[in-house]
Parts: sequence; C-alpha cells; structure tokens
Amino acid sequence: MSADTIEHNRKRFDFSGIKSIWLFGYGSLIYKVDFPFLEQRPASIQGWVRRFWQASHDHRGTAEAPGRVVTLIEQPGAVCKGMAFRVSPSVFEHLDVREKNGYLRFSTTLTFESGGHAEGLVYIATEDNEAFLGHAPEADIARQIATAVGPSGPNSEYLFRLADSLRTLGDECTHTFAIEACLKKNS
Ligand code: SIN
Repeated sequence: MSADTIEHNRKRFDFSGIKSIWLFGYGSLIYKVDFPFLEQRPASIQGWVRRFWQASHDHRGTAEAPGRVVTLIEQPGAVCKGMAFRVSPSVFEHLDVREKNGYLRFSTTLTFESGGHAEGLVYIATEDNEAFLGHAPEADIARQIATAVGPSGPNSEYLFRLADSLRTLGDECTHTFAIEACLKKNS
C-alpha cells in the first residue's frame, strides 16, 4: 500500500449523520493537540502495544534520513494507555493529512480510565505500508531517533514528549522508556 493514506482514509468511514466521534491517541496525538475537541478523557485499548516501528519522512525525519515514530502492534492481553478525544468528524480532514504517512483509521473499543466504554477510531500504520520499518533493537532505534530531524522538529523531542505524557498517564511502556534511557545515556 502507498505510504500516502489520505485517499484510503477518506473512503474508509461514512461520517454522515454523526455529530461527534471518539478518537484514541497513543503517540503524538496525546501531546500535540492541534485540533479542536469537545471533550478529552484518559483511556486505553486492549490487545495492542506501542512500538517505534514506523518511519517518519514528513514530520520527524526526511526521505533521506527518516525518523521513527510509533504505531500499534497486535499483542493479545496487552493494554495501551492514551488519550481519547471526542471530536467532530470534520477534524479528520486535518488529521488524515497529519497522519498520511502510512496510518489508516480503524474502529476500536475504548475503555475510559473513569469507567465505561465507547467505540472510537485510532490511527494505525500496519505492516503492509511502505513506511513500516518493523522491529529493531531499542539501542538502534535510539541511535536513529538521536539524529533524525524533520519539518515538525527533532525526532528526540517526539520521543521525550511522548515518554513524559505516558508517565503522566501511568502507562508503563517499557519499550518507549528503554529508548528514552538510551537517548539520555548518549546525549
Ligand atoms: C497517535 O498519536 O495516535 C498516532 C501516531 C502519532 O501520530 O504519533
């Protein structure tokens, strides 16, 4: 599949008649909230883990020197914490452009930290997208992140801001924290 997912996402979900919908953010959508929302709540989704396995050519790296950003990988029994935003469907006109480098919108069940569930959408970059990099040792991922810079800023800033947000949310994401530790050790 082409790395540019804008057209795929536009065809994916019929928002007609829908006034608001939940969006689950587990990466930069937690801390870079450049879209209007009606409500936000800490939440989690089941069966997925966060991994720095997706290349960023357009935000935190370039075509020549891609950065690494997070996607979700299926893992039965896992819980991924993040932030849920209730948004108007028009917000996806902006977010589909922001998340265009390989991310597709999927429907999923959100569990709110305050209790209760709702159906929502989450952007996932699946293995079949052209920018998918896959597994690498965390020390190697940290080395790539340390030098990558793109139009949205240094890749290390993405990592550090995400790690801080996850601590605030109480997500014990050992993968993110291991990469953070490698980056801090070598800086
Ligand atoms: C997300 O934050 O939910 C998607 C991945 C990203 O934009 O970092």
